[in-house]
Amino acid sequence: MYQKIPESTLNLIKSNHDILDIVGEHVQLRKQGRNYFGLCPFHGENSPSFSVAPDKQIFHCFGCGAGGNVFTFMMDIEGLTFLEAAKVLADKANIPLDVDVETVAKNQQHYDPYFEAHELMKKLYHHVLLNTTHGQEALDYLLERGFTEEIIKKFQLGYAFDSWDYATNFLDKRGFKPALMEQAGVLVQSEAGDFFDRFRNRVMFPIFDQKGKTIAFSGRALGDEKPKYLNSPETAIFNKRKTLYNFQHARPHIRNSNIAILFEGFADVIAADRAGVENGVATMGTAVTSEHLQVLKRTASQVIICFDGDNAGIEAARKTADIILQAGLQVRVCTMPEGYDPDQYIKEYGGEKFRREVIDAAHSFASFKMFYHRRGRNFAIEAEKMSYIELMLQEIAKLHDRVEREFYLKQISEEFGLLLQTLTGETNKIMGQYKRKENADTERLSADIFVAEKKLKVGYQIAEENLLSFMLHDRHMAELIKEQLAGQPLNFPTHQAILEMLFAYYDEGNQEDSSLFINYLEDPQLRKIVTEIEMKALQTSPSEKEVTDCITQVHLYHLEKQRKQKEYELGEAERLLDFSLAQQIGKEIIEIKKKLGNSIRRG
Ligand code: UTP
Ligand code: MN
Repeated sequence: MYQKIPESTLNLIKSNHDILDIVGEHVQLRKQGRNYFGLCPFHGENSPSFSVAPDKQIFHCFGCGAGGNVFTFMMDIEGLTFLEAAKVLADKANIPLDVDVETVAKNQQHYDPYFEAHELMKKLYHHVLLNTTHGQEALDYLLERGFTEEIIKKFQLGYAFDSWDYATNFLDKRGFKPALMEQAGVLVQSEAGDFFDRFRNRVMFPIFDQKGKTIAFSGRALGDEKPKYLNSPETAIFNKRKTLYNFQHARPHIRNSNIAILFEGFADVIAADRAGVENGVATMGTAVTSEHLQVLKRTASQVIICFDGDNAGIEAARKTADIILQAGLQVRVCTMPEGYDPDQYIKEYGGEKFRREVIDAAHSFASFKMFYHRRGRNFAIEAEKMSYIELMLQEIAKLHDRVEREFYLKQISEEFGLLLQTLTGETNKIMGQYKRKENADTERLSADIFVAEKKLKVGYQIAEENLLSFMLHDRHMAELIKEQLAGQPLNFPTHQAILEMLFAYYDEGNQEDSSLFINYLEDPQLRKIVTEIEMKALQTSPSEKEVTDCITQVHLYHLEKQRKQKEYELGEAERLLDFSLAQQIGKEIIEIKKKLGNSIRRG
């Protein structure tokens, strides 16, 4: 939570900066109406969809969805935490930070030895690998695997030789106390209380943060010892959910190509780099998280998944593809021959063939899903064919782009001799179901769809947005609206979450200030929705009737949902010939209809 800095201080920091100046240091802005527009610094684009509203002190990109206030802009553009961003902005405006912030600043400094120790150990391990007899066996191992000296230097690979106390003594002598180094993840403490080296007889892969500072290690066994890769534990400076291996090298290449390539292993990233594919990254051997994707989304609009060619790799790719697509990034998937990983493939076939036949030939999302769902299916059997088509329609319905959907529907229609119209109709139905389920998750809209969808926004969605906007601007109004909602949650879970956070924000004694409220929301999706709501020029002092109309819409939609659900249940009951149940449901429907009638008359 961000409450470490009092709101008054945040307010002071904020009021000492104009978002136009801060953004202006990174983006060429041009005035257009009330707002300023420019090319988004967070994703590659040719026409400006990035806008800044000086009156509200917020920014928003209609292309990639980046958005927020001065604090979030600094966080995103510099890769800072909230506190770091606040500190930078405070310093810039010569605002001394109060006690809380100072302890935080001290805490930050408190971690300096963590960074220093990692830097020192990285250099030591690297030196041992390249220049000492201790490192000869590890060096031979790497060279044998196809690593060159150049690559070893670029990735600062090293070797921790077989000793229980080498790093412990080395660090202790330089003033890094073992207890602290245990906290930093470099040493381990035994049950008896002694400290010893975490990494022994392993090839060391330093892990860097976005700024290129060493924050952790992964040590690979030279032989078949377990684990194959031993990783640093999570520490105050190493967060696995956020860290992407090689991001510090890959970032400019990702930005330029607008594509990030996601590998499973460090060895794959390095082999690809050697093969001229320099925009590769990998997680720490864990599934990709929303934090990873948030990092990637700031730099690219597409992610290519390049996992191992075994069954586990294909399954992981399938899951990862869905997550990436849902995060609003385009996704493509490479397929590898069975039994290969990128590293082995490059070793055997060379970089040229890897680029041409694996990376450039990456499947689109739908075509990968075709490949995936086809595996092991026998189309001579009617049922298998039908379930394949059914699954594919579900996949196609996930695509944001209508043209792309049509393309694949046409393919299916041709292959199976089905009417395109029927397939399109089915797909639209599924899309409707997703919509209802996910409540039109705005996160997933891409630039052009964004505009189209805006027009399609249904009444109750706009009503809920309006209500949130009213509540953001007037605390008293927020209370009134809450009363009138009478316990009825907003229909979009994201809207309801914002509403709840807003009351928590007010309850802590904070004032109406949407820009500050954005700080309070930690979830980027919620932040984005608030930014979007704020970006639209909405009326801020609505009449009583306008408020009531919006609330009525929320209630109506809820009743409509209930009615549809009950009608479905009625159909089911009739189908099952359960007439007493059907009668019961019929009564409930009449009740709902009465309420609907009342609401409409009231509204
Ligand atoms: P793999 O087992 O696919 O390793 O694990 P690899 O990339 O092919 O490595 P080499 O070629 O045998 O050296 C992929 C990733 O999973 C994580 C590591 O991040 C590794 O890069 N991993 C794997 C671990 O964290 N621990 C392990 O024991 C194994
Ligand atoms: Mn491998």
